Amino acid sequence: MKTKAAVLRQSGGHERPYTVSKPLTIEEVTLDKPGKDEVIVQIKAAGLCHSDLSVIDGNRPRPMPMVLGHEAAGIVVALGEGVTTFNKGDHVVFAFLPSCGHCEYCMSGRAALCNPGAKANNEGVLLNGGRKIKNHNGDVYHHHLGVSGFAEYAVASIYSLVKIDKAYPFEIAALFGCAVMTGVGAVVHTAQVHMGESVLVVGLGGVGLSAILGAKAAGASQIIAADVSEAKLHVAKQYGATHVVNSSQEHALDQVKQVITPSGVDKSVEFAGAMPALDFAFHATKKGGVTVTGALPHPDARLSLNPLILVGQEKTLKGCYLGSCVPSIDIPNFLALYKKGDLPVDLLITHRLKLDEINEGFERLANGDAIRQVIIFD
Ligand SMILES: NC(=O)c1ccc[n+]([C@@H]2O[C@H](COP(=O)([O-])OP(=O)(O)OC[C@H]3O[C@@H](n4cnc5c(N)ncnc54)[C@H](O)[C@@H]3O)[C@@H](O)[C@H]2O)c1
Ligand SMILES: [Zn+2]
Ligand SMILES: [Zn+2]
Repeated sequence: MKTKAAVLRQSGGHERPYTVSKPLTIEEVTLDKPGKDEVIVQIKAAGLCHSDLSVIDGNRPRPMPMVLGHEAAGIVVALGEGVTTFNKGDHVVFAFLPSCGHCEYCMSGRAALCNPGAKANNEGVLLNGGRKIKNHNGDVYHHHLGVSGFAEYAVASIYSLVKIDKAYPFEIAALFGCAVMTGVGAVVHTAQVHMGESVLVVGLGGVGLSAILGAKAAGASQIIAADVSEAKLHVAKQYGATHVVNSSQEHALDQVKQVITPSGVDKSVEFAGAMPALDFAFHATKKGGVTVTGALPHPDARLSLNPLILVGQEKTLKGCYLGSCVPSIDIPNFLALYKKGDLPVDLLITHRLKLDEINEGFERLANGDAIRQVIIFD
């Protein structure tokens, strides 16, 4: 089957602005037939995430060439061999890490750490090891996190897909595959925010603002939003922040630890991707506090930490991938909260694009001028 797809040939080394250098090219590619436990999905909506941008700018090197995109929703249109759990016409959200269901992590409820899923994602292949995207010369392209959603159609493992109710708009459903699952999951699963606790969220992109929505839904008392961008601070209260702090300012830490709270927050969550942001999140927690980091900085980044603070103040620092979620359980649960009005994720969508406007979209994201931008397919 032929499809239009956004292809990245080189990770890093693209001049800005991307509107001129155009790191992604829109090509017609051929998809192989779906294999065992695979389906073809017609993509209806796909969001632009900083993790895509990090592949473009070289902060997250991946095998090239690759059809990018990992936050998407669509309709199953063809079934491979042995597929019994999905039917043609099903509406699905992609999870950006497949869950094999059999490894020690999947078996113990920690799908975010699935061993075969991580191996496939690192190699740019589907869960069963195959690559199903070719160009007209027969060159085989890599899959991005088992999704490659910046295309009209995608071949996917059924273990990358979650079936959803047909009532949800695709542009909303897509967000639950990355931003919402990660941000809300970081708060409710990784940080385990309880009703009445104080929460700091550092980095107010699509993921951080989802964490703010999650903190509100979880019943946090004080929700402090921090960023270095005044524009992001300006919108944070609409999402449920009770206070905003520009973390680049000199007395920002005192503001959190003395003015807004008496001695620091119970929980902090960082989705900025910069070491000063993580440092701020860690030091802003009170004694016994928990810091969750979910951003994906450059592989060479190093955190400098005084272990005496960890010990003497019994602090906890936790990593968070995929919001520590089990996608097949959490995506439907979080969507139900959206339906009830408790997770108003419509707020996240600032732009709707066509596939061939994708480079403009990434330039906007790199400039911090957008929250979630969603490509809409007809
Ligand atoms: N752990 C996961 O499973 C997972 C999933 C999705 C995204 N991510 C990562 O989460 C991060 C956020 O993604 P996004 O799409 O929301 O990005 P984004 O670019 O939309 O937002 C990042 C925000 O961080 C802010 N920021 C940058 N430097 C800062 C600093 N020093 N202090 C405070 N704020 C700062 C920016 O102004 C921006 O508002 C990225 O690193 C992304 O790769 C991780
Ligand atoms: Zn993402
Ligand atoms: Zn597994």
